[in-house]
Amino acid sequence: MIFIDMNQERIPVLGLGTFSLKGQTCRTSVADAIALGYRHIDTAKMYDNEQDVGYGIKDAAINRNDLFVTTKIWHTDLTRSGITAGLEDSLQKLQLDYVNLTLIHWPSDNMNLQECLDTLMELQQQGKTRLIGVSNFPADLLQEARSIAPVICNQVEYHPYLSQSTVLSALREHNMMLTAYCPIAKGEVLEDQNLLELGKKYGKSATQITLRWLVQQENVAAIPKASSHEHRAENLNIFDFSLTDEEMESIHSLSKNHRLINPDFAPVWDE
Ligand SMILES: NC(=O)c1ccc[n+]([C@@H]2O[C@H](COP(=O)([O-])OP(=O)(O)OC[C@H]3O[C@@H](n4cnc5c(N)ncnc54)[C@H](OP(=O)(O)O)[C@@H]3O)[C@@H](O)[C@H]2O)c1
Repeated sequence: MIFIDMNQERIPVLGLGTFSLKGQTCRTSVADAIALGYRHIDTAKMYDNEQDVGYGIKDAAINRNDLFVTTKIWHTDLTRSGITAGLEDSLQKLQLDYVNLTLIHWPSDNMNLQECLDTLMELQQQGKTRLIGVSNFPADLLQEARSIAPVICNQVEYHPYLSQSTVLSALREHNMMLTAYCPIAKGEVLEDQNLLELGKKYGKSATQITLRWLVQQENVAAIPKASSHEHRAENLNIFDFSLTDEEMESIHSLSKNHRLINPDFAPVWDE
């Protein structure tokens, strides 16, 4: 495993995404992932699975200090009381004293960013979240957030078909990290001939090549979701090889501004 160091926290570059995992499947997936060696779990209030994630963590019986857990505040809760109650509720459901990272899940036209970040900083001071960050923030809003608070991360859609070059440069300017969601483009990379070809050289799948490409970039983490043991094991098995600079570039060149997640409340995206 590779780690990213941010404000005295070590963040494993590969985590388990849990969107759409529910009930016993979610619980088993989380416990199995931890048994396999995952040390980073991504959830959110909106996924309505924090209780199941919490049970999975309990089942895994891992030392809390060895696990990195992220949750997110939904965009309709972006007031002082909404954020405070939202995180409290997440902690109760997860059965944890603290999460490692709390994100603003989506920006909102109605939010007061200063108030939101002040509230998150207070929760950080109270020890309820070790780190704070944002998700789905375009570069200009990210800069604004960073000027207010020590946000360490922007979680955005990132895979070979969506370059995120503007967001990446803004993040790198401030030594922040990018967490890639939909890292395997919800499975669209599986049959990509370029990735399959590269995979032949290393004895890896197109998914593994994609995940390796992501985590080999500076300050980039990836959180693929997988509901089967086989997929979870496959996705973690990317730390025994590395791509050459030319191969990294060839995957960057697959970008075609293909965005999979774009709800009607999304902000205006960067190119
Ligand atoms: N911040 C946000 O707004 C936001 C938005 C979207 C997602 N996220 C986070 O990012 C996580 C990942 O995104 P995602 O779930 O949308 O997409 P994804 O991880 O790119 O793709 C998940 C899909 O790929 C399949 N898969 C996983 N590993 C595979 C493998 N080795 N071989 C073949 N297929 C494989 C999964 O199938 P199986 O389940 O059958 O294994 C599932 O259908 C989410 O779970 C969530 O935690 C955050």
